[in-house]
Amino acid sequence: MNRLVRLFRTSIGSKLVVAASGTLLLGFLFVHAGGNLLILKGPDALNGYADWMQGHPLLWGFRLGLLALFAVHVLTAIRLARANRAARPTPYRRIARLGARLPGRLMVFSGLLLLAFLIFHLLHLTVRAVGPEVQPLLDGAGRVDVYGMIVASFSEPLTAAVYLLAMGLLGLHLVHAIEGLFQTLGFNHESYQGLIRLLAPALTLLLVSGFAAIPLLVISGALGGG
Ligand code: HEM
Repeated sequence: MNRLVRLFRTSIGSKLVVAASGTLLLGFLFVHAGGNLLILKGPDALNGYADWMQGHPLLWGFRLGLLALFAVHVLTAIRLARANRAARPTPYRRIARLGARLPGRLMVFSGLLLLAFLIFHLLHLTVRAVGPEVQPLLDGAGRVDVYGMIVASFSEPLTAAVYLLAMGLLGLHLVHAIEGLFQTLGFNHESYQGLIRLLAPALTLLLVSGFAAIPLLVISGALGGG
């Protein structure tokens, strides 16, 4: 056990922890974006899905697991960035290596901004302590009207802008993170680099456009009729 803890405190161990937790978080984001896109099928599909999730017996286990993943990911990434900086007091002027084009500091900065967005997002759509009041809160079938909440929220230009900015930030963070992930997994060889340079932005674009489509469709009036 002690050996395992010692391994995770080494630089390569920490990289593996950041990569593994990041991969699981990425999986969550794809599932979350897919669930959100049920909004395209109308209020019944989205509200039914949200209601099913809210009543799921594993909901709190899932939430605690997600929280633990976020905590491990953020704290280990910060520790790794600090250790890297301490080991390299003179910053590189230009780092051209694949997966290291953004300095670690920018990854930590974008990650912390994303954390701030996440706190806002949970207060907004999970706790519902911020954002427009939706009346009535329940739809015709007695379920929380998540569809109505989302349409009302993104009809406010400031809220839509905050989400779109956050999606841009997510894209910046992810494109580098996915490149780094391949590197940590050992795909360092020159022959993989073209593929990775294609795959990282493609996966990022797919995810970010899945999220960003919703505020954009509401603003344009294509969703919610407004
Ligand atoms: C347009 C973009 C997004 C929309 C419309 C959206 C929508 C929602 C909604 C409606 C909920 C509440 C579900 C419920 O309690 O019934 C939720 C929860 C959540 N969202 Fe998002 N989301 C978006 C982007 C994101 C992003 C980018 C992240 C992560 C960086 C994220 C992470 C979460 C988390 C962690 C929860 C809590 C899950 C839970 O309560 O179990 N979301 N989202």
